[in-house]
Amino acid sequence: MRYAQITGWGRYVPSKVMTNLDLEKLVNTSDEWIRTRTGIAERRIGTPRDTTSSMALRAAQAALQVADLPPSKVDLVIVATLSPDYPMPATASLVQDALGASRAGAFDLNAGCSGFVYALSVGASMITGGLYQTVLVIGSDTVSRFVDWTDRGTCVLFGDGAGAVVLQESALPTGLRSCILGSDGSGAESLIIPAGGARSPATVDTVEARQHFIKMGGNEVFRFAVSAMCRASLQVIKQAGLEPDEIDLIIPHQANVRIIQAAAKSLGLPMEKFFVNVDRYGNTSAASIPIALCEAIEQGRVKPGDKLLFVGFGAGLTWAASVFEWGVGAELRPAPWWKSIVNTVIEREAGVRSFALRTGRRLDAVWRRNGFGGDNGYADGQNGSKHLR
Ligand code: ACO
Repeated sequence: MRYAQITGWGRYVPSKVMTNLDLEKLVNTSDEWIRTRTGIAERRIGTPRDTTSSMALRAAQAALQVADLPPSKVDLVIVATLSPDYPMPATASLVQDALGASRAGAFDLNAGCSGFVYALSVGASMITGGLYQTVLVIGSDTVSRFVDWTDRGTCVLFGDGAGAVVLQESALPTGLRSCILGSDGSGAESLIIPAGGARSPATVDTVEARQHFIKMGGNEVFRFAVSAMCRASLQVIKQAGLEPDEIDLIIPHQANVRIIQAAAKSLGLPMEKFFVNVDRYGNTSAASIPIALCEAIEQGRVKPGDKLLFVGFGAGLTWAASVFEWGVGAELRPAPWWKSIVNTVIEREAGVRSFALRTGRRLDAVWRRNGFGGDNGYADGQNGSKHLR
């Protein structure tokens, strides 16, 4: 029997902090309103240098460092995001290239803020199914780029960041014990970026109508979130053969502390069982659960044998929950001094490799344009990209 265990974890948040007082200068709101209605005090906002792929890269590098694995060992990179760098190519391919994960496949997964839990179950299934041994699962979102900074109903809620875990094959009977993935597309319009896709491509009109920003029915999403979280949590706990009070720590999607409090009440569980950091980051979408997991580990709240419940909800409308039995020591070992040198060399090597692939591709094109070479297309199917450098 094969199991999929989390052996590495990492997070990245932009350095720029935006407080509620900063928001008071932008829209007609107040620190008091935001704190009492959402529990948020501040959030991180990406600087122009931060993108979904660059943040994902930093979180992934940190996770690989904890797992003590070189990027060349990664079989698959999954990036859960609703704010990819481009409609195409996938952000995961940019991360794969910049990381130097030369053997890995890569794809993006969009399930809104449920994305990380979706991606975790896909990655774990790839391992338990025998296809892969090492999967990098990343949640990364630069939601601030899709927020209408004139809409006080949404702009106060979101922040940017990334979190990543390394999943590895393990013989220890731990890891993913159960999971539920759900969707109700009839609620698509309650949380949507209306334009920029195939149904409504970008035009001057769509830009003028601010259709490229998040539109949300806040009350509707709130009610959905509480009921989806409770239903999915109970199902997944039962599927794992457990009772709710046997869960050691619940790491919910961090959207609004009132949603978490309402879910705790309805599940009959104390708030101490829930990890909450929405006060410092706001809603970082697909990144919120892995960032919270990293902080829970840093605070010593995760130990081997613990049963963790991850539960998310978001655009789609979607929801996802999984019970995960922690199997490795979660203590953060300080990296030896020479590790940072090795990491720099690996990063530089990835850059050189990417440059060489791009240059080779260009030379190949020139060669063929001049009538040389066969007609068998590209010699290798690998990507090269300068986007993260
Ligand atoms: N500052 C001050 N007043 C505000 C603000 C603000 N930032 N935003 C709204 N208001 C006003 C409204 O205009 C309204 O005024 P009115 O009564 O004069 O009309 C009043 O406050 C109450 O508005 P409500 O929308 O009823 O406030 P509510 O308590 O429901 O809180 C909120 C709104 C915070 C958006 C809440 O509904 C919520 O958190 N919903 C869930 C959102 C969510 O989780 N979204 C992310 C999903 S995950 C993903 O996939 C991205």
